[in-house]
Amino acid sequence: MQISAVEGYRLWAPAYDSMPNPVLALETRVMRRLLSSNRSTRVVDIACGTGRWTRYFADRQATVFGIDLCQEMLYLARRRQLPRSHFILADALRVPLRTASAGLVLCSLALGHFEDLDQAFTEMARIAQPGAVVAISDLHPEALAAGWTGSFRVGKLEYSIANFRHSASSIFAAARNAGLHLNTKTEAHFAAPELGAFAAAGKQGHFNRFRTTPALWAGLWQKI
Ligand SMILES: C[S@@+](CC[C@H](N)C(=O)[O-])C[C@H]1O[C@@H](n2cnc3c(N)ncnc32)[C@H](O)[C@@H]1O
Repeated sequence: MQISAVEGYRLWAPAYDSMPNPVLALETRVMRRLLSSNRSTRVVDIACGTGRWTRYFADRQATVFGIDLCQEMLYLARRRQLPRSHFILADALRVPLRTASAGLVLCSLALGHFEDLDQAFTEMARIAQPGAVVAISDLHPEALAAGWTGSFRVGKLEYSIANFRHSASSIFAAARNAGLHLNTKTEAHFAAPELGAFAAAGKQGHFNRFRTTPALWAGLWQKI
């Protein structure tokens, strides 16, 4: 059954952090490498969910603002009681933060939930200070074309969360139009480090089939 993003994450929230998830494992591996040298002290985590990345940056002494439209995901984020962290129930397309207030804007695994790409990039660029990094990751367009979805089970029902299939060219154009300069882009396949997550999810048999499709893309832009 296909459902909207907010409704989907409302149902998924209680299991989101405990369910073994190879995509989260891969995304963590890729983004940690890309962001390892970032020392920003003011981070905005757009569509922060349960605060996975908020915690990472709070642990590195940053002040972090987590923005999400799903009350149930934010409840779990707040429950972490992270230092220097503030969680705000808001739409990523209308972020209630000051212009040029962030040294790093992160949007992890959520861009496909935003129908209006131009508005999403305009907002991320607006809150970024000149010189700030805007870091984005999401499911790869080829994975979406192959039919991969964000799906989960509650009891006997399987839910699939609506995802807009933005092409790579439309993503790069929206970023450029918002005044962002592309510094790094990468795509990633599942590899040995994710084998454990496949096994824990009881999907070890899927690993060899899935590893041939690019699973994730990530990009780092700089606010000009
Ligand atoms: C796959 S989760 C990613 C959460 C987190 N970034 C992570 O990497 O673990 C996607 C998140 O996007 C949020 N979301 C979807 N549409 C949104 C919107 N328009 N504004 C803010 N958050 C949104 C959902 O509520 C959900 O928490």
